[in-house]
Amino acid sequence: NEIYLQGLAGNKPPFTTDLTALEDAAAAVLTPEALGYVAGGAGSGATMRANREAFDRWRIVPRMLTDATDRDLTTTLFGNDLPAPVLLAPVGVQSIVHPDAELATARAAAGLGLPMILSTAASRTIEDVAEASGAGPRWFQLYWPNHPDVCASIVGRARKAGYTALVVTLDTWTLAWRPQDLDRAYLPFIRNEGTAIAMSDPAFRALLAKSPEEDEQMALLQWVGMFTGTDKSWQQLAVLRDLWDGPILLKGIQHVDDARRAADAGMDGVVVSNHGGRQVDGALGALEALPGIAQAVGDRLAVLFDSGVRTGADVLKALALGAKAVLLGRPYVYGLGLGGEDGVRHVLRSLLAELDLTLGLAGHRSPATLSPEVLVRA
Ligand code: FNR
Repeated sequence: NEIYLQGLAGNKPPFTTDLTALEDAAAAVLTPEALGYVAGGAGSGATMRANREAFDRWRIVPRMLTDATDRDLTTTLFGNDLPAPVLLAPVGVQSIVHPDAELATARAAAGLGLPMILSTAASRTIEDVAEASGAGPRWFQLYWPNHPDVCASIVGRARKAGYTALVVTLDTWTLAWRPQDLDRAYLPFIRNEGTAIAMSDPAFRALLAKSPEEDEQMALLQWVGMFTGTDKSWQQLAVLRDLWDGPILLKGIQHVDDARRAADAGMDGVVVSNHGGRQVDGALGALEALPGIAQAVGDRLAVLFDSGVRTGADVLKALALGAKAVLLGRPYVYGLGLGGEDGVRHVLRSLLAELDLTLGLAGHRSPATLSPEVLVRA
């Protein structure tokens, strides 16, 4: 309504309301390197395509005369009410798309009351983003450092700065083969776009001080090396459990047995995700993994979902297949590139409005009445 009424005064939206057209719109304003980094995926791009195909294989069956005039998107997660079942996925190095980077994203998210999940690879510090969030809900995404002091320090900073949930990303213990970046010899971390948290961290700096001959480039490599390797185990999750007294979610879960192990390890949730198709080429579409996982552990864990969500209909489908909430990735990053804080807000509001309308037109007043029966296989 707001957009149509503004239109009467000759005012159009700042950029497209077609959430599937954002990448093309952003291509006009981002550098080729930044666009390639954000839009790109692993290898041939098969997993990114699978993410979309998985959504396309489900179709919504609308119901009539259900009185869905007054709708309520409110969702409770870990005892907190959210205005809608939507969060901002952790996306690092946001300074490559806009100088205000994560601060702009935090302000837009806070204004709408949606949780922003701050990445360990952010371009701004934990504390600065917390300040920009104000009273807004904030979660922290952990790339799990190999060094125990650095791990404890970063997790402790997040807790102190008011982040309420910890999202531990397990699928990126090394960076995948990403031709879009390899062809340009482009890695934002090496360009110092994702090291704000490292360089402001006392424990990490103490490690650097022990090897004073190292220059900045070496420090960056040491930071990247902090997350590389597979010496972690399910048992070691107990360490994180000890460090963090709030909810912990494991991100990157795609197998039912891994979801069960997460529950057995005392975790509070999982994010069913393939990192937006950026890690394993040729993997299953993330939505394909969702119903089985939701069925197996939905009563023990908060099952969240990301990878490939573009429209309100996509959100509805993921909720119907058992997700408690979804994370949005690339679309809001394109919004950030196109318009900073206002751009992120425009994308988020468009998604929420489209979700609200689609839910109502499908015959539902709230996400609570969604179930797999709302969908059919194409
Ligand atoms: C990511 N993602 C990500 N995930 C994470 O846990 N930590 C991170 O630092 C990043 N960084 C990052 C950068 C960029 C440019 C992208 C596009 C993605 C993955 C992200 O959280 C999420 O899983 C996907 O983006 C979801 O898929 P869609 O919505 O982009 O299709």
